[in-house]
Formats: sequence, structure tokens, C-alpha cells
Amino acid sequence: MRIVTSLSVAVVALASFTVLAQKAAAQQVAQTPPMGWNSWNYFAGKVTDKDIRASADQIVSSGMKDAGYIYVNIDDTWEGQRDASGVLHTNDKFPDMKALADYVHSKGLKIGIYSSPGPKTCAGYEASYGHEEQDAQLYASWGIDYLKYDLCSFIGDVMEKQAPNDKAAQMRIMIAAYDKMDKALKATGHPIVLSLCQYGWDAVWEWAPGIGGNLWRTTGDITPRWDRIYAIVSQQSGLEGYAGPGHWNDPDMLEVGNGKLSLAENRSHFAWWALLAAPLLAGNDLPNMKPEIKAILTNRDVVAIDQDALGKQGRHAYSDGEVEVWVRDLKGGALAVGVFNVGSDRYSTHPFHLDLSKLGLHGSQAGKDLWTGKAVTLTDNEPIELGSHDVLLVRVDAPK
Ligand code: GLA
Repeated sequence: MRIVTSLSVAVVALASFTVLAQKAAAQQVAQTPPMGWNSWNYFAGKVTDKDIRASADQIVSSGMKDAGYIYVNIDDTWEGQRDASGVLHTNDKFPDMKALADYVHSKGLKIGIYSSPGPKTCAGYEASYGHEEQDAQLYASWGIDYLKYDLCSFIGDVMEKQAPNDKAAQMRIMIAAYDKMDKALKATGHPIVLSLCQYGWDAVWEWAPGIGGNLWRTTGDITPRWDRIYAIVSQQSGLEGYAGPGHWNDPDMLEVGNGKLSLAENRSHFAWWALLAAPLLAGNDLPNMKPEIKAILTNRDVVAIDQDALGKQGRHAYSDGEVEVWVRDLKGGALAVGVFNVGSDRYSTHPFHLDLSKLGLHGSQAGKDLWTGKAVTLTDNEPIELGSHDVLLVRVDAPK
């Protein structure tokens, strides 16, 4: 009898220890916004095992790894078919996922993957509906460190079918689906970042942290166009209170270096993501990255704003016509100030005059221009010459 009692005490103690260990592991991921690279924005459905290996190589040789880019994330189109036991296999583009994960890990990087709570992914590939536990175990067996879980076919095939014309019920079904995958992932005991991709529906920022989400998309998809990037940024105001260590607003993956974005636009895009404490998932063609794009993505001072340990998301402080001033509080009382010329009708020949009192500052502020690396002093009413779509990004270590 005594033996049985001691044994059950030991079993209970072990179980509680396991739960505690899992919780601790879950809390440790994404203490700062995740940084890495994702295949979708450049490769979309064409991505292969070879591209992922080449990108991992390039992350190391370009210095991106040293700058903090750690996750190499495979987006949609890696999935094959399920076998008779329901186990998902990869398609021909990814002959051996475990070997690929081992390769990425051998570079000191982490690897991410993609699925949907629906029967199919957005690109029409096999997804996790009805196989959540099985898929979570599969990811753990491969050593996957990050899952992007994209709503896609769950909308039409599950939410709308199970609760036709009842939006509130549809949203509850959606939340339960994310919760289910979070529990399945945690049950594996393997630490993993959970990225919710459901385009910001139903104020996801209010409930995602509660069901284990480490980051959540706040909008629909980004494209490498200024108008789209600016529209996404404009939808981030007011969300700053929801972000913090372990749980972040995600205005979508970076388009730096993609499409026809000008250098100024690439700078502004990156500066905004840093001020917003956004995940920094580059999405460009790494083996063919131009030096000026590499310089933006690996700018240590700008990355440090994004990764600041205080974990406080920045905010839009004020606007003056087509100029917007954004600020972010940093650890140790420092401040990041971003001045953006968002329009196309104000030229650098007509300078903008900063009003420091609107930022709660008084007198000259000693700072560093994070693009030139030079010391600057921000003074009240000082003229700032900014080209269209360009940004002045300054760190003030001791604001007054
Ligand atoms: C959705 C997501 C994108 C990408 C594609 C893949 O559109 O929002 O980020 O993952 O699906 O099909």
C-alpha cells in the first residue's frame, strides 16, 4: 500500500514537473520578436529543398545570422499526401524533411514550417484538419522550431459549414482550432513558436496570447509596394498595448529587397517594422541580395530597436500633413524617433520642422542617426530634409 502511494506521488510529481518544464519552454520562445527568413514572399509555390539550403547558407555567409536572423521558415507547398495511417508525407520538392531540418540546425539556425487548421492550405496542399496531434508529433520528430498556421480553407470548409450565417459562432470555432493546435504542439514537449495567420480577424490580438500564440498577423497579405506597406502600417496604430515578450503583433513578413521598392521605401519599411516590434522575417532572394539591401537588413542599430528587451511596441506620435512622427520607448529610458515622409508631394527642398514638445521632449536631444551612424542633435523646430517615402531614424539614449 505504502509502495503504491509513494509510486503515485512520484508519478504525480513527475507529471507536474513535465507540465512546468513545458510551460517554461513555451515561455522562453519569442522573448523578442522572431527574426529569420521565410520562403513565401520571393519563391511562393516554387520553393524547393535546394532553395532552403541555399538560403540557410546565405544567412550565415551574409552576416544575417550574426545580426540575429535565426529562423529559416518554409512556407506553403512542401506538403505531399497522407498515408493509410494518416501520416503526412512531403512532396517531391522536399525529399527528406528531417535531413533538411538537420542541415539547417547544423548551421546554428532554426527551422520553421507551415500548415492550416483547414483540410487544405491556401495553395491547395494537404493541411492539418483532423490530424492536429499527428502533425504536431511529426513536426517534433523533424525538430521543427516554428509553425505558421494559416486559416485558409478552414473558413469555407469548416467555419461556414458548421455555423452558416453565424459570424460569432464561426469565430469561436476558429479560436478553438488555434487552441487545439497549440495544445497539440505543447503536448509534444518540443519548444516551438506558434504564428497565427488569420489576417487579423476578430481582434486576434485580444485572444491570441491566451491560446499560446507567439505572434499573430494583424492584416491581410503584404506585397512589395509602397501603398500596401503604408496601408498595413496605418492599421497598426492602437495595437501597441497588445505586444510584449512572448507575444507580438505581426504586420506580415518583410518585402525589403523585393519588387520595385526604392531604397528609401526599403529603409522606411524596415524602420517601421523595428519601431513596431514586428517579427523580422526577411523574404528576399538571399543568394542574389544587393549590398545596399544587405546593409538595411543587417543594420545592427535598427535591429537593436526591433529587438529591444523592454519589448514595448512603438506608436504614431503625430502627423503634419504627409510627414508622420513615430516613437518607441526603449530599455533604460532611451527613445527611438522615426520621421517619415509618407507622401509624394513634399520634397526634401521643403524641410519638415520637428516639434519636440509633441514627443514630450524639451531642449536639444543628443542622438544617433541610425542610417548614417553619425551623431545628431535633434533640436526644436530644426529643419529635416526628407525625400519622398524616406525616413530619418534616430536613437536618443538619454531623452530630456
Ligand atoms: C496566405 C498567407 C501568406 C502565405 C500564403 C501561402 O496568403 O497570408 O503569408 O503563407 O497564404 O499560400
